[in-house]
Amino acid sequence: MTAAIQRRLEIPEPQRAERTELHPELNHAHVRFIGLGKTYNGQQGPVAALHGIDLAIQRGEVFGIIGRSGAGKSSLIRTINRLEQPSSGRVLIDQVDIGEFDEDRLVALRRRIGMIFQHFNLMSAKTVWQNVELPLKVAGVPKEQREQKVRELLELVGLQAKHKAYPAQLSGGQKQRVGIARALVHDPQILLCDEATSALDPETTQSILGLLREINRRLGLTIVLITHEMAVIREICDRVVVLEHGHIVEQGPVWEVFGNPQHEVSKTLLAPLQHALPQELQSRLLAQATSPDAAVVLRLQFTGSQRDEPDLAALFSALGGRVRLLQGGVERIQGHALGQLLLAVTGSPLAAEELRQRASHWAQQVEVLGYVV
Ligand SMILES: Nc1ncnc2c1ncn2[C@@H]1O[C@H](COP(=O)(O)OP(=O)(O)OP(=O)(O)O)[C@@H](O)[C@H]1O
Ligand SMILES: [Mg+2]
Repeated sequence: MTAAIQRRLEIPEPQRAERTELHPELNHAHVRFIGLGKTYNGQQGPVAALHGIDLAIQRGEVFGIIGRSGAGKSSLIRTINRLEQPSSGRVLIDQVDIGEFDEDRLVALRRRIGMIFQHFNLMSAKTVWQNVELPLKVAGVPKEQREQKVRELLELVGLQAKHKAYPAQLSGGQKQRVGIARALVHDPQILLCDEATSALDPETTQSILGLLREINRRLGLTIVLITHEMAVIREICDRVVVLEHGHIVEQGPVWEVFGNPQHEVSKTLLAPLQHALPQELQSRLLAQATSPDAAVVLRLQFTGSQRDEPDLAALFSALGGRVRLLQGGVERIQGHALGQLLLAVTGSPLAAEELRQRASHWAQQVEVLGYVV
């Protein structure tokens, strides 16, 4: 019997009945949380970390989890390999409830799920090779197979030349590459990353993200990734969920959440990526036009809901007068154009509100910020 058939047969009957009522896309979810709750027994009493989490992560996607410190991100990700036991609700992997797994099945589950950490968690007294080999040894894999696997993985992460080095002799990026190789020894289907790039400099972060993307594409792994670096999410995630006080407050494709965040927490988290109004301009901004040659300052936001980049010539000619670009730009996330332009318009026959309405043909959100002389 293949493992896939075996897994299917293990699904209890009531679960199947329930599944048929659900959205079809959920039936293919790689990881699903249903009404998941987690309460810790803290020293000062119970700490509720997660409440009624309903979420589906699709096979092969790179899924990001963001939220402020203490929001419950690590608690959530750690229920996927049962490092944390949920207090209520269920976690399904490939439609199988992992809540009832005994020790043996948990060991097998954890081999199907790799995990990497912020501080790499390498064994300092073992070489790169031995660190990667260790979980295979523990699993009783014969020497020849072990050697082949370790060689293969060190090549994948680009560390063949360092196989005899000890962790202390490696850079942060190289340590994380060892962590990644070690997480892949059992050919997992899911890779969990809890702040895996947070201890790295920006350039090394880029190289690790590139490696994760490659693993995602080449091996078809589902990657679930926690980070406080929004640029990391923008770089490699397909979808993102925002947690706050253990609740989901927002979720969706990255371009959509980044282009037009709805919840206050998402807005706050994403603020560093947004270009704030320059201080110098802010101080000159007036609520009313004090002279006829005052410029109207418009903020145009592109939230990515239209795939085309803005046609500036058409926009400027529709506004009339002289249009100066104060600040702004557009970037592309998942093929969608996101960004903002701050424009100062002088000498147009149109009133501020009319300018706003005209500009709305090209941008999804337009505001009149005020006037500058
Ligand atoms: N073992 C534990 N015992 C008691 N409370 C805990 C335990 N682990 C986590 N908590 C609490 O649960 C809540 C969620 O913690 P969690 O570690 O999941 O947050 P997080 O979003 O990962 O935060 P960070 O960004 O700081 O890593 C916090 O209030 C935390 O103090
Ligand atoms: Mg955490």
